[in-house]
Amino acid sequence: MNTATPAVTYRTQAHLAPLTGHLRVPGDKSISHRSIMLGALACGITEVTGFLQGEDSLNTLRCFRAMGVSISDPVDGYVRIEGAGLQGLRPPAQPLYVGNSGTSMRLMAGILAGQAFDTVLEGDESLSRRPMKRVIDPLTQMGAVIESAEGGRSPLIIRGGQTLHAINYVLPMASAQVKSCVLLAGLYATGATCVTEPAPTRDHTERMLTGFGYAVNRSESTACVVGGGHLAARAIEVPADISSAAFFMVAASIAPEADITLLHVGMNPTRTGIIDILNLMGADITLHNLREVGGEPVADIQIKSAQLSGIDIPESLVPLAIDEFPVLFIAAACAVGRTVLTGAEELRVKESDRIAVMADGLQKLGIDATPTADGMVINGRGDEATPLGSAEIWSEGDHRIAMAFAVAGLRAQGVITIHNCEFVETSFPGFASLFRRCGGGLQDTVALGAHA
Ligand code: S3P
Repeated sequence: MNTATPAVTYRTQAHLAPLTGHLRVPGDKSISHRSIMLGALACGITEVTGFLQGEDSLNTLRCFRAMGVSISDPVDGYVRIEGAGLQGLRPPAQPLYVGNSGTSMRLMAGILAGQAFDTVLEGDESLSRRPMKRVIDPLTQMGAVIESAEGGRSPLIIRGGQTLHAINYVLPMASAQVKSCVLLAGLYATGATCVTEPAPTRDHTERMLTGFGYAVNRSESTACVVGGGHLAARAIEVPADISSAAFFMVAASIAPEADITLLHVGMNPTRTGIIDILNLMGADITLHNLREVGGEPVADIQIKSAQLSGIDIPESLVPLAIDEFPVLFIAAACAVGRTVLTGAEELRVKESDRIAVMADGLQKLGIDATPTADGMVINGRGDEATPLGSAEIWSEGDHRIAMAFAVAGLRAQGVITIHNCEFVETSFPGFASLFRRCGGGLQDTVALGAHA
């Protein structure tokens, strides 16, 4: 998003009819980013279908174009990338702008550390507040030279022409972005770079590198790559994003008489924590047509209304549902009894502080929600038809906060007004119209002026 982007406000309305229908949410954001990155670094033509045409993955695409890679304009999710090879990127004329996208900045930092030229990576206001030291530290250990703003924040100036050497890195936090950053830098390092994670996180980088013909040695919690190989172009079919599907999974669970089916959703086991958590809460979820597409499991997910119950969320599921907590908090508010989340301090450094912003919004809606250092305690009021009140919410430039409160409108007594929903474009273009199409009440208004 830039300052010229018009502000968008959502106003929830009573839903028009029971939520029903078959729908396909947009392509997976994590896989879309990686399809551009690996396609650009491969030898040959990579054709991508199902690409997410959201601002985040489009920013990644623009950055690689700025480094001389020929990439077609995405049309209906189709993108064609003429790979430049691992050594084929060219110096960009200007700083590389990644907008709101932490994935772009952290993964690209790994790739750029191995280039012969200098680059500057910068993002929007929200991204400039997020921690980048977590990638600067291991890259520096590998021999990269990176300058940052105070406190290890962006913009990052990455000095080219360094010799990278392999390291064995034990991740201090469960982060797929940091893991991927180090592995991508490892493609340019001498020796075997290994990353060990404290808990399983999404493994799209490992799977996709393997798909591009680059050997990744994986044992239980460690992944290793040996530098100096090459990537061979391949076709990629991006499944629908389970993190976007999550909004409809919770929507159908909390709305009366709902029955929706989400088509072709990515079911990578490092992403399915949302299904496990909702099942523990008593959701009515059926998987149909489980199949494998291009190295990733995919299924159609049917969800019907159910009375949810509060639970203690197992900490082992936290990294597997890390992006889904804003909407899971709405599920907890509509559940009977208490839900307790712990071990989720990473939520404080996402696009917003998702613990603080969600607790504040839930309290405004009349819910007993107590933020803690690493999670939240929510006393759900799910035995009432409309457990939530009405309120004005600021999404703090966070797409998932905006969509979570839009879903909350399905069980609210009055209108929930949500400001700064333009950021929904980063991951889920067309959210409001898809929500309306399956029966959800949501008005989206675009302001005439630019947003503040
Ligand atoms: C992502 C990893 C996660 C996730 C983000 C996408 C990725 O971030 O929250 O939306 O594509 O690797 P962390 O690695 O910071 O947990």
